[in-house]
Amino acid sequence: MNQQPRTIGIFYFSGTGNTKMIAKLLATEFNRNVRVVDVIAIDELLKTNKTPEVEKYDIIGFGYPVHAFNAPRIFFEFIEQLQDGKKKNTFIFKSAGDPFMQGGSTTLVRKTLQKKGYNVIHERLFVMPANVLVRYQDQLIKQLYNTAVQRAKTMVKEILSETTKLQKNTFFSTFLTAAFSSMENFGARFFGENLYVSDSCNLCGICISNCPTNNITKQKGHIRFHSKCTFACGVFTDVQ
Ligand SMILES: Cc1cc2nc3c(=O)[nH]c(=O)nc-3n(C[C@H](O)[C@H](O)[C@H](O)COP(=O)(O)O)c2cc1C
Repeated sequence: MNQQPRTIGIFYFSGTGNTKMIAKLLATEFNRNVRVVDVIAIDELLKTNKTPEVEKYDIIGFGYPVHAFNAPRIFFEFIEQLQDGKKKNTFIFKSAGDPFMQGGSTTLVRKTLQKKGYNVIHERLFVMPANVLVRYQDQLIKQLYNTAVQRAKTMVKEILSETTKLQKNTFFSTFLTAAFSSMENFGARFFGENLYVSDSCNLCGICISNCPTNNITKQKGHIRFHSKCTFACGVFTDVQ
C-alpha cells in the first residue's frame, strides 16, 4: 500500500443522512492512512455558489443516494459545474435501500465524471435503510450499519492500493436506470409544486433552510413550494 501522505476530498449529497454517514465512515478510514480528508456536502456548495476546490485533492470521492436507480438530479447538476478533474483517481459510493440491480447502473454517473476529466477507479454500493415507503426495523438497521462499517474499511484499503473495482453495468440496466430516473425527475417537479403546509405551520423557516434545492420559499407570509424538488427528504410509513 502506498503510504505517501495524501489529501482526499469527499463530496456527497444526502437527503436523509445515510450517504452522509457513509461519507464520514470513509473519512474515518482514510484518516487512519492519510493526512487530510475533507467531507463536503454538495448542496451546501450549490446553495452558497462556492466553487469546489477539487484541485487541492489527490484523490476525489463522490457519493449519492440512489433515486430511481440513478443519482438524484442535484448530483448531476453539481458534476456539470465542476472543474477539470485532471485525471485524478476518483471513487464513487452510493447508498440504496436494497441491493436490487445494485442500485442501478453507474454508467451515467461514471461517464459524466469521465467527461469532466475524473479517472473513476472504484465504485461501491452501500445498502442502507430505505427512506421511502417503509421504515426498516431497528435490528435490520443495526445490521446494515455494521456491514457498512466493514465495507468502508475494505473500500478505503482498495482505493489506497489503487485497486480498480468498477460495477458491471449491462446495456439493459443502463437503459432502465435512464428511463426510471427521467420519470422520477419529471414526477418530482409536479410533486414539489403541489406540496403545501398544514394550518399548524408557524412559519419557523426550518423547511426553507433544510431544503437542498431551495424549493421552498416564504412569500407574503405563506410557505410556497416550487418545481425544483428532488425528493430528497423521503417518505416513511412505519412497519412493525
Ligand atoms: C425518491 C427516492 C427514490 C429512491 N429510489 C431507490 C431505488 O431506486 N433503489 C433503492 O434501492 N433505493 C431507493 N431509494 C432509497 C434511498 O436510496 C436510500 O434510503 C438511501 O440510503 C437514502 O440516502 P440519503 O439518506 O443519503 O438520502 C430511494 C429514495 C428516494 C427518496
